Amino acid sequence: MRDKLKKIKELAVENLKGVNDLKNLDDLRVKFLGKKGELTQILKGMGALSKEERPIVGQLANEVREEIEAKLEEAKKGLLSKAMEIKLKAETIDVTMPGKARTLGHRHPMNQVIDNIKNIFIGMGYEIAEGPEIELAHYNFEALNIPKDHPARDEQDTFYIDGKGDFLLRTQTSPIQVRVMENKKPPIRIIAPGRVYRSDEVDATHSPIFHQLEGLVIDKGITMGDLKGALAVFAKELFGEDTQVRFRPHHFPFTEPSAEMDASCFACGGKGCRVCKDSGFIEVLGCGMVHPKVLEMAGIDPNVYSGFAFGMGLERVAMQKYAISDLRLLFENDVKFLKQF
Ligand code: DAH
Repeated sequence: MRDKLKKIKELAVENLKGVNDLKNLDDLRVKFLGKKGELTQILKGMGALSKEERPIVGQLANEVREEIEAKLEEAKKGLLSKAMEIKLKAETIDVTMPGKARTLGHRHPMNQVIDNIKNIFIGMGYEIAEGPEIELAHYNFEALNIPKDHPARDEQDTFYIDGKGDFLLRTQTSPIQVRVMENKKPPIRIIAPGRVYRSDEVDATHSPIFHQLEGLVIDKGITMGDLKGALAVFAKELFGEDTQVRFRPHHFPFTEPSAEMDASCFACGGKGCRVCKDSGFIEVLGCGMVHPKVLEMAGIDPNVYSGFAFGMGLERVAMQKYAISDLRLLFENDVKFLKQF
């Protein structure tokens, strides 16, 4: 039996020499020390030994077990450190390699303009309102005093999406005025920026999708003077302290009276230049006193409340502010162009 134990030890040492991975090593552990392993088999035969021999062989068996365990542990450590070495070698970092440049983006000029305008109005106490881009014809037209036979409803410049003329891609942000009036009690002071859609061919000044910003103020005793004051302050904030504004009479179905506001050219101060096409002024927005019919349809009593509204095309503001001559540049995502802002 002692011989057998010795042999097992020798065999284990011999086998361990050839081990080159952890799976192999574990197989060996099972083979020698496992429940059905060689050592266990021998220990099972101890019953046949004499009383005197039993403790001696038992001790020897334990020694052999410990030795084999130690060898297995050693071999395991060896394998692990070898694996680590290989891994480290494979993962060496070449610190002399050129780095990967991370190109950081920035806000698109359109968004810069939108944020700029939002901040100006937020500073004057306006809240931001939103409305759906797929709109009911009712909100886009009727509720804004644009009846069924009005030329603005022509299929030519409107994207109807249901064939019946009930739903469309909103052609203006003005329907948000109505939605706000229906849902909020005066005093109301909101702006609403958003995408709008018209069936236009793309050229240097047109696109089927563009941005507008709507404004609406409703309270008791609001007059055209409030409109002029608010929008003059806005123009100064946007284009500079020395900016002058002028109002030209105009027509919009949902305001009465209506006007268009021009601002003195920020590029030349009004002398005339390329930006203002030598006129000294640039066109900024449409505005007016909210039509009593529009108030009434939205559930606001025109005998108690009055208000003003305005709307502007944001691409045009961006083009003026940054002296961009072609609208398409704002949509084409050419990094060389966008980098300039
Ligand atoms: N919705 C008009 C348009 O698309 C712009 C506009 C004009 C909005 C006057 C207004 C306004 O709120 O009062 O041309």
